Amino acid sequence: MKLLVCCVLLIANISDNSKASLESYTPTSTNILFEDITRNADKSCNRPCKFNVKPRRCHYNFTVEPIVGDNDKIAISVNGITPGPPINVCVNDVIVVEVKNKIPDQDLTIHWHGVNQMGTPHMDGVPMVTQCPIAYGTSYKYAFIASSPGTFFYHADSVSHQSDGVYGSLIVNQPQPQEAHAALYDYDRSDEGTLLIAAQFPTLLSAYLEDVAHIQPDALTVNGDDENFKVFVLQGYAYRLRLINAIAIECPVIIQIEQHEMVVIATDGKPVKPLPARTVKLYPGERMDVVVRASQESGGYWIKVNAGGACAGVSANAMLLYSGFNYTSMLQQGVNEVDHENGLDSDSAVYGQMLESLQEVSQDAPPEPVYLGINRKKWNIKEKDIDFRYISDAIPKKVYYPASFGLKSSGVVQINGKSFLYPNTPMLLYPQDVKGDFICKVGEESENPEPQCVMVLEPKENVLELVLVNEGFESNESYTFHMHGYTMQVVSSGRHPQGKPMSKEEFEKLNQGGAVFRNLKHAPLKDTIVVPKKGYAVVRIKPDHGGSWLLECRSCGLSSLPAAIIINVPQKMPKSVVRSLAKCGNYRPPDVLLN
Ligand SMILES: *[C@@H]1O[C@H](CO)[C@@H](O)[C@H](O)[C@H]1NC(C)=O
Ligand SMILES: *[C@@H]1O[C@H](CO)[C@@H](O)[C@H](O)[C@H]1NC(C)=O
Ligand SMILES: *[C@@H]1O[C@H](CO)[C@@H](O)[C@H](O)[C@H]1NC(C)=O
Repeated sequence: MKLLVCCVLLIANISDNSKASLESYTPTSTNILFEDITRNADKSCNRPCKFNVKPRRCHYNFTVEPIVGDNDKIAISVNGITPGPPINVCVNDVIVVEVKNKIPDQDLTIHWHGVNQMGTPHMDGVPMVTQCPIAYGTSYKYAFIASSPGTFFYHADSVSHQSDGVYGSLIVNQPQPQEAHAALYDYDRSDEGTLLIAAQFPTLLSAYLEDVAHIQPDALTVNGDDENFKVFVLQGYAYRLRLINAIAIECPVIIQIEQHEMVVIATDGKPVKPLPARTVKLYPGERMDVVVRASQESGGYWIKVNAGGACAGVSANAMLLYSGFNYTSMLQQGVNEVDHENGLDSDSAVYGQMLESLQEVSQDAPPEPVYLGINRKKWNIKEKDIDFRYISDAIPKKVYYPASFGLKSSGVVQINGKSFLYPNTPMLLYPQDVKGDFICKVGEESENPEPQCVMVLEPKENVLELVLVNEGFESNESYTFHMHGYTMQVVSSGRHPQGKPMSKEEFEKLNQGGAVFRNLKHAPLKDTIVVPKKGYAVVRIKPDHGGSWLLECRSCGLSSLPAAIIINVPQKMPKSVVRSLAKCGNYRPPDVLLN
């Protein structure tokens, strides 16, 4: 516990911009690069990582504001571009990002997806849970240690802002000999080999005043482009590529490279036993590292990206280009719509949860599992009974018409029969001010009569087993969940053998009958998982660092009520830290604004 407090203070110092000792590591000779604000990736931090060198402090200024793109479409940009500037650092560097919100009349926070924020839970970027939202015209300084290597990304916490363009890559490198699979590839160029996949919508979702649930994306992009991203390779050599599904709604993407096999070496930033794949599949928020060897005839090959789920029908292409190849002809010929050789058969695709962790994961005595029953429910609730105090995804300051919620027609996804309510004040910073009657304890939801509550789980043991069951009584959807702050051991996932809906009792029957196989030894370590339709995922977490951590379904419905729980691990925030952070004073609930 003492250690924890020390680190919080350390980072607090940095945020205060006092001359913390780490400041002295900032290279002076390369400061000039910092002035390049069009793409202000801190180039001094994007370097080959070496042993025994002091970590650096990598500073970025992010101004988040609307821009009009080439095609006259409005997007929300970071420093005038979307995706935002890439962040490439070495493990143990301190990442400092000063985020300025210039989106008129809207709040903002940025989440660092996959970063465990050990010692810095107030940098996780969840409004009303870990911080006050960044109000229009103000800024917030994020500062945290890149404590674990791997492929991550950042995005606005709000699904609408993320969909409108607020996202970018975050790659944490390490000295090459420490890379588990360094022997499998020759080049790992994280700045050229990162494919950030996103969906584009015909309209700015965060500015749309009605139900956005029916708005379909009209394009898919790779690093902001739908046809033109190029990966250059030399014949005979193997390359590590980093794939990121940065879509915020329920859209798995399927990726294939013409005539090239991939070897999957990591999921969500964590190494796995290498697995060859012709096709890979990533759910929203998932990342996958693959190795591709340029072993074919010199030429140009399409990297095909197709989306499913809520983005079905849109696709993007990038190019794998052998050195010296003139790709003009490739552009003229275009892409074969159907690859007859392989097809885009998603059933044979390799996906994160089927991978095995490289190292054996430590086994602890099986704890009493916590059941989370996920179900979409048609809801005949009256608008006046919905609490609009804070609905993260709905941007709080947008004039939000309750009637736009499709609660009655398409229903709402709930956990254990409740919709998640954001606390009235950031739970991490002011736990004593969170109103008790807003809270319900996971497992004891029925004690709170309200349909919406701040769902809180306080782990009692040093291992937490969560059973997420996608009950599927009124829908056939899959749901993707993201765990903040922790890596989950995904010990099991699957579907009901007969494809039937499942209640808690039904799941327990399957479990006792031995139908729920558990991979305890090599469970993949992930922060983003899919709970398949009429299926389940069993995960374990070691709640070893303090904070208020959201386990959320980001993709459970735009313009709906959130489905999430807070895993609250005791963390006394030092007064000096809390005092240094902005108060939520300016925050006004939207129903007040409406009047
Ligand atoms: C960020 O902005 C501050 C002041 O607004 C400036 O002093 C600093 O040099 C900027 N840093 C970078 C990396 O651009
Ligand atoms: C590439 O090919 C096109 C036509 O196929 C030609 O017009 C162009 O000059 C070529 N470019 C180079 C650099 O050779
Ligand atoms: C789910 O799928 C089953 C079988 O295909 C179908 O009978 C049922 O109507 C579907 N339910 C919904 C809500 O779409």
